[in-house]
Amino acid sequence: MKPAIRVAVTGAAGQISYSLLPRIASGAMFGPDQPVILQLLEVPVEKAMKALEGVAMELDDCAFPLLQGMVLADDAKVGFKDANWCLLVGAKPRGPGMERADLLKDNGKIFTTQGRIIDEVAAENARVAVVGNPANTNAMIAASMARRLTPDRFTAMVRLDQNRAQTMLAKKAGVATTEVSEIFIFGNHSPTMFPAFSHAKIQGQAAEKLVNDRAWLEGEFCEKVGKRGAAIIAARGASSATSAANALIDHVRDLVTPGKIHSVAVKSEGRYGFDPNVWAGMPVKTTSPGAFEVITGIEMDDFANSKIAATNKELVEERSFVAEMLG
Ligand code: NAD
Ligand code: LMR
Repeated sequence: MKPAIRVAVTGAAGQISYSLLPRIASGAMFGPDQPVILQLLEVPVEKAMKALEGVAMELDDCAFPLLQGMVLADDAKVGFKDANWCLLVGAKPRGPGMERADLLKDNGKIFTTQGRIIDEVAAENARVAVVGNPANTNAMIAASMARRLTPDRFTAMVRLDQNRAQTMLAKKAGVATTEVSEIFIFGNHSPTMFPAFSHAKIQGQAAEKLVNDRAWLEGEFCEKVGKRGAAIIAARGASSATSAANALIDHVRDLVTPGKIHSVAVKSEGRYGFDPNVWAGMPVKTTSPGAFEVITGIEMDDFANSKIAATNKELVEERSFVAEMLG
């Protein structure tokens, strides 16, 4: 049996975590032979901690063979102690009529504190994945607080957007989702994101050729992927939870599986024309568990470049909005 890894999850009594935690404990994230210890972090409020106790009771009642222990914490120094993975889910979700960036002032400060504490107490090999919105900028804030952990340890999730785009392309072409590949998300997890359809494949051929509807790809497709989160809020009255949890499973599982190519928001370092210091979605290839290299050299046409410029502009604006929070 491998030694257990420690997985810290914030917002552990929230909606996303309710779908997420049983899947981590059952092996969907780290594999069927990898034991885990869950370090569940919530706010120091009686109602939240009581709800967290209930979540832990249910996890106990699943008798998951891989779940070797749980730590329930309302103190980040305890929650992140020696954590190998820190999954930052805990933050306010948006409601109807809001954009994710409207959450910045409230949520941003969560990530200054957590970034600093993770840097102090998490494991030497710690990796951080940010889900709480606006995810790209929150990852940037957390990374800016770190002195020990390098920026590549901090990623934000755009995998939900990749999965949404994959399903939309499959439906348009009338094929199974498994027939769609190489659809990558560039930029912000917001309506400005760019699902780069020109490089996508359906049954191994250019998706654009098979779909044969450039107007749909440039218009409805990009718009619907970008606004899918709002469509779910409008329908459900609450933001996506099961699909977000599933996307985080995919995000981390692919980051610990060498050879996987997938969309992740990472520090851009100027790639694809992004400002070097924003966290932007782009394709990466996992090189060893937790480490990746960005896939460069994908050619962009004028339409793609204009979309990337727009999503970059938004990321730069978000950064200036939180300038005083950056470490
Ligand atoms: P939720 O309100 O159901 O749960 C959030 C939980 O976080 C609450 O229990 C709250 O007490 C807790 N929390 C708040 N601040 C905390 C802190 N400092 N430390 C620990 N816990 C804290 O919300 P949810 O539906 O689970 O969504 C969580 C976040 O994920 C939201 O910001 C939402 O917008 C975002 N989200 C992102 C994506 C994505 O693709 N990146 C997808 C869906 C949702
Ligand atoms: C989503 O894309 O579903 C999430 O980011 C939640 C939201 O606010 O849209």
